[in-house]
Amino acid sequence: MGSLLSVSELKKSYEVKKSIFSKNREVIRAVDSVSFDLQHGSTLGIVGESGSGKSTLARCILFLEKPDSGRVIFKDMDLMDIKKDVIRSLRKDMQIIFQDPYSSLNPRKKVFETLSEPLLFHHIVDRDYIRERLIEILMDVGLNEDFIDKYPHEMSGGQRQRIAIGRALTTNPSLIVADEPVSSLDVSIQAQIVNLFMDIKEKRGISMIFVSHDLNIVRFISDDIIVMYKGMVVEAGKKNEVFYNPLHPYTQMLIDSINGDFLKKEVDYKNELMEGCPYYSRCDFSKDRCKKEIPVLSGDKDHKVLCFKD
Ligand SMILES: Nc1ncnc2c1ncn2[C@@H]1O[C@H](COP(=O)(O)OP(=O)(O)O)[C@@H](O)[C@H]1O
Ligand SMILES: [Mg+2]
Repeated sequence: MGSLLSVSELKKSYEVKKSIFSKNREVIRAVDSVSFDLQHGSTLGIVGESGSGKSTLARCILFLEKPDSGRVIFKDMDLMDIKKDVIRSLRKDMQIIFQDPYSSLNPRKKVFETLSEPLLFHHIVDRDYIRERLIEILMDVGLNEDFIDKYPHEMSGGQRQRIAIGRALTTNPSLIVADEPVSSLDVSIQAQIVNLFMDIKEKRGISMIFVSHDLNIVRFISDDIIVMYKGMVVEAGKKNEVFYNPLHPYTQMLIDSINGDFLKKEVDYKNELMEGCPYYSRCDFSKDRCKKEIPVLSGDKDHKVLCFKD
């Protein structure tokens, strides 16, 4: 089993005005030199506070947005080099599920249309057999035939997310990227949807990237975890290593503060040092060196951290 996806030194910056009145612009390094490998059939969790660059990374991996630099190798193809129409045809092999199924589903389309469109567009199923196939897909996501004629507003949040997951499954993708797929749902429903993802992972062997600000959820579903802070990977490794033996003070804080409200706050980029460790200003263990030098992600293959060890 080799890598399905290999990301290296990926970067994406945005230039934004400092304020509406100011002419000065500042550069936000939303994704800053991110590298990781995703093995066939495995799930990578990406965790970090709001504003840490998780969604930008997800969009860049799928080329919904072009990275500034770096490499994305999917099934031995370098997406940086291939043409736009080839990337478009790869879309059926790499699907995305968003946080809010209400805005990702067309309110004027019944489930029938939502699910049959990709099947017909990619010539996966003949029109005559479409209904049978849709019933199978609905069963796969824990719904039944009655949902075929429903509109999004006639369903609950959890049911809508099941439809969005069903839509992603229609094209039998090798990779599903789920960006905060349970964050807009009631806590009581979140576990059910996470279980559905687990089920899909086990039964179909689809590789997944599961993005969440909630380490507790990421831990449940992932084989490997990367922790992001200000666009950088500050810790990466096997799930149990990262969760039970966190090496970065930020990861430690995420674990200590599971369910904490401040996780929903945007990371404030202003007045931050442009040099040195990205976590310097929040770190309880910072030294002089951390102010001047950026540590490199280092360790062994099962566990890496962006921190000076001495
Ligand atoms: N299109 C954009 N234009 C300008 N800034 C953006 C854009 N998208 C994201 N950002 C900024 O990049 C940073 C990372 O955002 P994002 O990837 O959405 O983080 P997360 O998904 O972890 O909350 C944030 O500071 C955000 O404000
Ligand atoms: Mg996001």
